[in-house]
Amino acid sequence: MSSAGFAIRELTESDGPRLVEFLRRFFLRDEPLNAAVGIMADGEGSSPEQERFCLAALPEGLSLQAVDAESGKVLGVSLSRLHRPGLEAEAANEANACPDPAFRHILRLIAFVDQQVSEKMRHLFPGEDLRQVEVQVVSVDAAARGRGIAKALLQRTRDLARQVGARLVRIDCSSVFSARAAQRLGFQQVFSLRYDQYRPDGQLVFKPSEEAGDEYRTYVQRVI
Ligand code: ACO
Repeated sequence: MSSAGFAIRELTESDGPRLVEFLRRFFLRDEPLNAAVGIMADGEGSSPEQERFCLAALPEGLSLQAVDAESGKVLGVSLSRLHRPGLEAEAANEANACPDPAFRHILRLIAFVDQQVSEKMRHLFPGEDLRQVEVQVVSVDAAARGRGIAKALLQRTRDLARQVGARLVRIDCSSVFSARAAQRLGFQQVFSLRYDQYRPDGQLVFKPSEEAGDEYRTYVQRVI
């Protein structure tokens, strides 16, 4: 048990329904990219495509939940996958083929960034095994923010990365607070993209905001 009143546990496939319920209450509404494209703008709708994307992380055994130490209530989640550079073109094609136009915007941004981050990583870590445990989602219950839950989830993810022999942990941050958590834990910023300079098809899709900041930022840390 943590002195902060929460415990970190593995998130397994059997947690899927609970995870989706959590994401609909928080991440799909309040994560800055989701908020910008209005994934849950009508209050009830959701994005089956994005939910499938999130659930696909569970079988890899790298995802975590923070639960209230007394009640067992879910307070936060992190969804991570082993990311192998070299599949950038495939990811871009998949993004363009996404049938949900709102989630397609997000996947296209992720693919655009990934292409450049992969390039950058080859320069930063020449000749190294570039497999990364990538934290694709981190989300904390709005009532439990600022208690160190995101940092605790990232810290534990580093342990999982070591266990699977991945030398690097990565997180692409769409929130100034997830970026702050990564900075605090000593992650290195390797890439940033100003939202006002990202104009696919000439359109501004993601506007800067207090929570989003001005830039989408990628952080990496070597853990082995
Ligand atoms: N105001 C000011 N500072 C804040 C706030 C806030 N509202 N929330 C967190 N912080 C600061 C903390 O003080 C801490 O900085 P410090 O170490 O200098 O004190 C840092 O941010 C991290 O704090 P944690 O408590 O570890 O973060 P938390 O558990 O609150 O979770 C998160 C952060 C996940 C970003 C949460 O705000 C959230 O769920 N936001 C909506 C979803 C989202 O944006 N997710 C991240 C997108 S990127 C991705 O998913 C890969």
